[in-house]
Amino acid sequence: MAKTYKRTLVTCALPYANGPVHIGHLAGVYVPADIYVRYLRMRGQEVLYVCGSDEHGVPITIAARKQGCSPQDIVDKYHNIIKDSFKALGINFDIYGRTSSKVHEKNASEFFRKLYDNGKFVTAESEQYFDPEANTFLADRYIVGTCPKCGNPDAYGDQCEKCGSTLSPEELVNPRSKLSGAAPVRKKTTHWYLPLEKYESWLKQWILDGHKEWRSNVYGQCKSWLDGGLQPRAVTRDLDWGVPVPVEGAEGKVLYVWFDAPIGYISNTRELLPDDWEKWWKSEDTRLIHFIGKDNIVFHCIVFPSMLKAYGDGYILPENVPANEFLNLEGEKISTSRGWAVWAHEYVRDFPGKEDVLRYVLTANAPETKDNDFSWKDFQARNNSELVAVFGNFVNRAVVLTHKYFAGKVPPCGSLTAVEKEVLSQIPALKESMEKNITSFKFREALKDAMGIARIGNKYISDTEPWKVAKTDMERCGTILNISLQICADLGIAFEPFTPFAAARLRRMIDSPLDWEILGRPSILSSGHQIREAELLFGKIEDSQIEEQLQRLQRIREQREADAAAESAAKVEPRKAECSFEDFEKMDIRTATVLEAERVPKTDKLLKLTIDTGLDRRVIVSGIAEQYTPEEMVGRQICVLANLQPRTIRGIESRGMILMARQGDGKMRFLTPAEILANGACIG
Ligand code: 2FM
Ligand code: ZN
Repeated sequence: MAKTYKRTLVTCALPYANGPVHIGHLAGVYVPADIYVRYLRMRGQEVLYVCGSDEHGVPITIAARKQGCSPQDIVDKYHNIIKDSFKALGINFDIYGRTSSKVHEKNASEFFRKLYDNGKFVTAESEQYFDPEANTFLADRYIVGTCPKCGNPDAYGDQCEKCGSTLSPEELVNPRSKLSGAAPVRKKTTHWYLPLEKYESWLKQWILDGHKEWRSNVYGQCKSWLDGGLQPRAVTRDLDWGVPVPVEGAEGKVLYVWFDAPIGYISNTRELLPDDWEKWWKSEDTRLIHFIGKDNIVFHCIVFPSMLKAYGDGYILPENVPANEFLNLEGEKISTSRGWAVWAHEYVRDFPGKEDVLRYVLTANAPETKDNDFSWKDFQARNNSELVAVFGNFVNRAVVLTHKYFAGKVPPCGSLTAVEKEVLSQIPALKESMEKNITSFKFREALKDAMGIARIGNKYISDTEPWKVAKTDMERCGTILNISLQICADLGIAFEPFTPFAAARLRRMIDSPLDWEILGRPSILSSGHQIREAELLFGKIEDSQIEEQLQRLQRIREQREADAAAESAAKVEPRKAECSFEDFEKMDIRTATVLEAERVPKTDKLLKLTIDTGLDRRVIVSGIAEQYTPEEMVGRQICVLANLQPRTIRGIESRGMILMARQGDGKMRFLTPAEILANGACIG
């Protein structure tokens, strides 16, 4: 039997305050959490909704260095940007705290200290990289070097961003410190570790036996960690930004960001409710739900629960951890460092009044079971052909016609035909399906249910054509509008979790209540009830707006390509030894035209070209088959070194060589005069 709870604590992954949040974050964590919270609240449940900025960790110190300011400046800036964009999108946490707060520092520090005092940690000495010039230990991210897999000269000590390989600093070729450029040296240091292996069998029982209902991506990741065997995890770091390790002899050390961040959920609750926080964290009557992205699964399902278990004192564990997969943008992975993203704060600036549209599209395309894609064209289509053409159009017709024929008063409902009976009978089933879907974290499906109600309404009013009926039978017209307005009232409730601004506007327009219990009842609005003037719920999104966004992305692409070209151009081959003019003059270089071209059998690289040099017709074997097809070569004017000693290649005598330009990345192109010249023109 499913457990019953008195209240629900919903946490959302604390975003790193080293950059703004983007649509990937919104789709993965914050929009689904907000749908869930709004739904529970609408159903009268007691909910606490907690989030805040994650303000520690190496990326923040790196961002500070890059921008030439302090880590505090960075987190102040992004904390506010992130907080404001959540608010603009209708994501209203009960508290949006920060891990640089005093409350958090004290709470995280005490948490560590209690585990320390109770002997829950082990210490171990290890060798870590140290920058002898900057006189500091180096986190993996602070070490750069050449990637052993793809040759990227700027791979990080934990990952190569070019080829995506996970790395360790030892694997880098020619490692250097990002701080000083010095070669890092190995130096001994001591850290505290949480021995996760001690919690392994308990975790197996709790998750693998006890939570088979968790999403398969979450359950699967937990299973593979647990089956692989857990290891002690360091919970401290040598760094000067974070919560100081509250132990003597730990100077220069801070809590590892992934140790302090989840404690931030508790700290933020304590900050909001200093006297009442424990009922949210230490009562079996509280249902705890962590909304996160898939990269956070291990920390929320394995590490944080082990920390809470080690702490004891009645801390509850999550009842579910609905982690989403990732959202791509126009078919490419979203990347903060490459600028490939749609930023929440820019969206609300560029699309004022369309906050609901983003929420809607991100839910309709939510990466719940697999990675998914966001494209601007799809965004436009969903707005124009679903929100505007179905939902908005239906409501507009119902409200405008009620004003036109009944002075804005809900007309009486006369006798129902089979059509109304059929329409009305479908809504309770959709309502029930929504309930099931939302409580089992299937928000995409739940949105389809809600949209199903709008589709039913829109079809009903189109099929029954009250504007025509009004000419002959005003009573029947009234019945149709009555039923339509009841469905509008249903939509004002059903869409509250998904598009809260539009739902509130709709409820205001028809003056209808927000009460889940009455959704689907045919008499939410009594006859004679006065409604307000129609206002558009959703506006069309024009091609020009989409074009602008696509052009912005195109500029990012072009910049990226230019950077890559500049990078490979920088890798030019070393200068060759000086040659005399006489040496150069020996070369007979001329224009020529390719007459015939074919692949040399059983080779990948060679083309046999018959060319007209102006002097003669001859054959040249050239290693360009990976760059050009035979068809691309025929008819092209080229430059050829005509007096090169003949060579026999694969049994074919080659008399000369085509001039090619070869770039650092291996890309080759043949040279051709700026305009067609006579064959045999001398070059030099
Ligand atoms: O992945 C992230 O963005 C982390 N800052 C999430 C932290 S969640 C929690 F544990 F605080
Ligand atoms: Zn690489």
